[in-house]
Amino acid sequence: MQIFDALAKRHHEQVVFCYDEVTGLRAIIAIHDTTLGPALGGCRMWQYADDADALRDALRLSRGMTYKAAVAGLNLGGGKAVIIGDNKTQKNEMLFRAYGRYVQGLDGRYITAEDVGTSVREMEWVRMETDHVTGIARSLGGSGDPSPVTAFGVFQAMKASLKYKTGSESLDNRVVAVQGVGHVGYHLIKHLREEGARIIAADIDRDALKKVTTDFDGIEVVAPDDIYDAKADVFAPCALGAVVNDDTLPRLKVGVICGATNNVLADEDRHSTMLAARDITFAPDYVVNAGGLINVANELEGYNQERALQQAAGIYDITMNIFRTASAEGITTLQAANAIAERRIRALGQIKDRYVGRPPSRLHR
Ligand SMILES: NC(=O)c1ccc[n+]([C@@H]2O[C@H](COP(=O)([O-])OP(=O)(O)OC[C@H]3O[C@@H](n4cnc5c(N)ncnc54)[C@H](O)[C@@H]3O)[C@@H](O)[C@H]2O)c1
Repeated sequence: MQIFDALAKRHHEQVVFCYDEVTGLRAIIAIHDTTLGPALGGCRMWQYADDADALRDALRLSRGMTYKAAVAGLNLGGGKAVIIGDNKTQKNEMLFRAYGRYVQGLDGRYITAEDVGTSVREMEWVRMETDHVTGIARSLGGSGDPSPVTAFGVFQAMKASLKYKTGSESLDNRVVAVQGVGHVGYHLIKHLREEGARIIAADIDRDALKKVTTDFDGIEVVAPDDIYDAKADVFAPCALGAVVNDDTLPRLKVGVICGATNNVLADEDRHSTMLAARDITFAPDYVVNAGGLINVANELEGYNQERALQQAAGIYDITMNIFRTASAEGITTLQAANAIAERRIRALGQIKDRYVGRPPSRLHR
């Protein structure tokens, strides 16, 4: 792999390779773009096939964070870290404190958080060595579990999608097929039931299903694979990525796809075009689920869930703007979201070029 070519290809600013002999830490921190602010993104711990695979993942994910923050209107750049290792057996205090010191060395250019394979517990170890960590427990003054705010953002995006598609944002008597009733799925169903939507739910975890069917009425449970055939107004994937693919896409009988799952399309270009051709309105996943990022971003200014929810409510207008842009410019909704993010970065980058003397001291400018 030609590393600088890989950075140049997607305009990455910096990659830091962290190696600590004592703890065995092997980590890669990728900073994609800091035009809008410090690069924020989670730290993933994964047993990668090889170092190139880990680097590719860090580059791909950090770029995704730039777009997510930009389109959500946050003053943050995009970054991501990966720790190479087994997240079941190799997590320990020293490893994460060693990682935290590398983060601190970047002096705020990168802010870390939990991600796949890491949790609040590890971030507390990281926090012993750096100020530049977010996603800390509520008891320590952090933002805690982001899923209520994420679910609220998904709910707002769904209302905007229905408004765009049908002229009415009401969920009363609408049918929503929810795939995955875990953290986000549960809170989403709560909002949907409060507005009178009917739910078709699928999960591979019986306990998770039992919890939603006990707590809410109006829920029909189907087998995991049958969710793609559900006759519904909306398909809300809240489980795994790549669930809209060559096999499932022709089976969908919905007007809208709007859910929390990251990378829901197996092939972004091809499947977003196929969805548009089938007149299925696709609310881009990274826009819909930005509530999670909004939640941790709020922690940087002193966490307040009320404010985080208010900001997540803005996902309604952001989603609507994406649909209108896609329609006006004859592009897919995913292309529209990317274009809006790129325009914001470009415009703010130009403004920031102007000399202002001493810049404001607040982190979020
Ligand atoms: N939690 C957040 O705030 C947040 C923020 C942004 C994006 N997301 C994304 O949203 C999705 C859901 O996140 P979560 O925090 O609710 O995760 P979770 O692990 O709490 O819930 C996921 C649920 O999906 C179920 N599931 C797994 N495979 C399935 C299958 N094949 N069919 C049906 N159900 C299946 C699991 O059993 C689980 O109950 C993930 O893709 C996550 O990356 C979450």
